[in-house]
Amino acid sequence: MKKLLWLCAGLLLCAAGPAEDLRVSRGAGGAVASEEETAARVGIEILKKGGNATDAAVAVSFALAVTWPEAGNLGGGGFWLSRDPSGKVLVVDYREVAPREARRDLYIRPNARGIVPSAAEGPLATGVPGTVAGLALAHRRGGRLRWRDLLEPAIRLARDGFVMTENTSASIAWNRERLLRDPETARIFLPGGAAPAPGSTFRQPDLAATLTAIRDRGEDGFYRGSVARSIEEGQRRTGGLISRGDLARYEAKTRPPVRFRFENAEVLTTPAPSSGPALAEMVLLTNLVGPDKLRPRDASSAHWAVEIEKRAYRDRNRYLGDPAFGGVRQNLFTDVTRLRAIAASIRPDRATATKDLRGAESDKPSTTHFSIVDSAGGAVSVTTTLNDSFGNARVAPGLGFLWNDEMDDFATRPGQKNMYGLVQGKVNAVAPGKRMLSAMCPIIVVSGGRVAFVWGTPGGSTIPTTNYQLLLGTLLRHETLEAAVAAPRFHQQDLPDTVQYERGRFEPDWTEGLRRLGHTVVERENSIYNSGLIGRVHGIARNPDGSWTAVADPRRSGAGLVVRPADASPVVRPAGANPVVRPAGANPVVRPADAGPVVRPTP
Ligand code: DON
Repeated sequence: MKKLLWLCAGLLLCAAGPAEDLRVSRGAGGAVASEEETAARVGIEILKKGGNATDAAVAVSFALAVTWPEAGNLGGGGFWLSRDPSGKVLVVDYREVAPREARRDLYIRPNARGIVPSAAEGPLATGVPGTVAGLALAHRRGGRLRWRDLLEPAIRLARDGFVMTENTSASIAWNRERLLRDPETARIFLPGGAAPAPGSTFRQPDLAATLTAIRDRGEDGFYRGSVARSIEEGQRRTGGLISRGDLARYEAKTRPPVRFRFENAEVLTTPAPSSGPALAEMVLLTNLVGPDKLRPRDASSAHWAVEIEKRAYRDRNRYLGDPAFGGVRQNLFTDVTRLRAIAASIRPDRATATKDLRGAESDKPSTTHFSIVDSAGGAVSVTTTLNDSFGNARVAPGLGFLWNDEMDDFATRPGQKNMYGLVQGKVNAVAPGKRMLSAMCPIIVVSGGRVAFVWGTPGGSTIPTTNYQLLLGTLLRHETLEAAVAAPRFHQQDLPDTVQYERGRFEPDWTEGLRRLGHTVVERENSIYNSGLIGRVHGIARNPDGSWTAVADPRRSGAGLVVRPADASPVVRPAGANPVVRPAGANPVVRPADAGPVVRPTP
């Protein structure tokens, strides 16, 4: 019955949407899947002009900062994962860092007025932003078009305005109360006290000026000069810590990717300070307990997945953080001897309580993920965030961009839960210049030497578990990407010791089956942002004929768009791009036979 309701809701959503189905499209000349349609169309235009996936990703990212203020950003950070047509992989970590004046006890010690500052809102919740530096670095490494040409669409959308969509208007309206707290933010996003109406033209001249400085001076247009001076001045006035020195010192970093094999494919994702290693542990544990146990979509397979998620999350909360600081142990996540012992601790017939696991030390908010491929087979997978929806719900005065509230991703004090209910260890304590641990982990799957899938998701702490369940769906169960994205999700993160599941998506025999095994099973909290759902995956799959299917998660509006052959730029397809024979019912590109070696250690 519940499944039927979900299906009806999906049909209604589609029926209410525009005539063109934006959620799933197929085409050969490249593809873009993103949560926001206007920005996705910017990516398609760049591909059509002969830009590669990197160019399109840079342009989409800047466009999202204009059209999707909930999570697109200049004042936040993220993780970039790309693979060029020759197979070269690039990870850019552009996570925010703590300002130099941030001390370990920042959120413990009361201030002069006797108040303990918040890491989740207010002036001290903001980390030094990384987005502009990250995109500049990614462009230097792999872009083909000129930087300024990639900024132009965003500048136009901010300066001349864009036609407000229902999606963005609703997102602003949902966050009205928070956005009203700061007068300048309210002036921009709530003119006359209400969210701009769908169909109206929404202009952001301050943001256009900031983007223009970035267009003309590259990252220096943001981290140095007049924008940096305005940032420092605004921070001083409002009680923030970010100085020009912090901005000038900010550095996006390239990092080796996390690579592991699952079924007949190689999975690429991002390392610490993201949560790719925890995802690797989930998959390697799956291989060790026997993937067949996780193949069905039933309570018994969910039990194995939950027990695996719990153990990988325990390691994440304890051993991951900024690798430039002490205590990070990424090698543990792929250490097979250790993982064997962990796999052996999973009981087939009973849940293991969090308190009984050795070595003990938690979606309302918003992030956004987009996936892009070009006609030559290059792929980019980017997850980017301000943390909470609209971040700190405060714009940088005069500059029109929203500040993040990412400091809450640190372990702010021992035992303290963050906004996702996560209880994290001292390895992720606050320190000057340190990156806070992130759950983000964008994905690229390679099969037969070519990109088979690109995807990722927002969802705070549920990001690694959503990505894990997508890997089980596509690679183990051979579902199409659409089916794997649409399938119901659940989540376990060690603490709290519960299995959260998507509201209205599971039959009673599933929940009862897990309860009988000793799990505490709870419906996902129904917040205004997520309606009790988990994650929003925007991804692309390669079809047997080498064309692409772009998929937007039906959980919320989004766009999966493709370049149709008639539109395509004259990019030459590499030789040997042969279609793969598709086993009946299987996903298009990864064959079940000949599973590769169980573990390929992270470099
Ligand atoms: O980096 C993190 O783990 C969080 N700041 C991500 C926040 C998020 O995904 C919110 N999205 N719905």
